[in-house]
Amino acid sequence: MKRFSFFLFTTVAIFLCACSGNSAQQGSAQQSNSDNMNKKTTLVAYFSATGTTKAAAEKLAEVVDADIHEIQPEQPYTDADLDWHNDKSRSSMEMKDKSSRPAIKNKVENMDQYTTVYIGYPIWWYIAPTIVNTFVEQYNLEGKTVIPFFTSGGSGAGETMKYLKPSAPNANWKDPINLTGKNIDDIKVLVDSIK
Ligand SMILES: Cc1cc2nc3c(=O)[nH]c(=O)nc-3n(C[C@H](O)[C@H](O)[C@H](O)COP(=O)(O)O)c2cc1C
Repeated sequence: MKRFSFFLFTTVAIFLCACSGNSAQQGSAQQSNSDNMNKKTTLVAYFSATGTTKAAAEKLAEVVDADIHEIQPEQPYTDADLDWHNDKSRSSMEMKDKSSRPAIKNKVENMDQYTTVYIGYPIWWYIAPTIVNTFVEQYNLEGKTVIPFFTSGGSGAGETMKYLKPSAPNANWKDPINLTGKNIDDIKVLVDSIK
């Protein structure tokens, strides 16, 4: 009888362990499924030296329900760096040398997750700052839809695409959108018009 009780106890204990292990596994599978469902597939990445493009990027991310990522220069731009009247200032020198690639201090760790990437920047000398090329060249954007957006003091996109596209030739590039002075409703209209 004693032996039978021991056998019964052991069998029940093994059964209970197996069940609880299984439900723990199911729980974590369900958790990771719901994590996957909550993952956004659109990213808004932007560089902004004085905050205008940052404000536009935040509105855009709200409109398109995207994650947001600020491209941070390893060496921040000072007012003197941004002085376009001085042809020896850092920004003037970088923009004269189209192969300059200012270093970036942070990274998007999960770029694979995104199918659409908006990339924002201020217009500098009628194109995107070369730090945007640094950003684009750090990732494999092949097959992703990439939509440039910008703010400016009045210029349009200028020759932005001529210098950006070669940095990711296999991305599905769209025409740049101008978010200068745009509110949420304007941005919705612009986003809906992207073909
Ligand atoms: C170095 C430099 C060059 C610029 N070149 C132009 C330009 O070619 N055309 C223009 O309309 N605005 C130009 N601007 C103005 C910026 O594009 C504009 O102020 C932009 O909204 C700033 O964005 P941010 O605050 O995100 O840096 C230039 C600004 C800087 C600092």
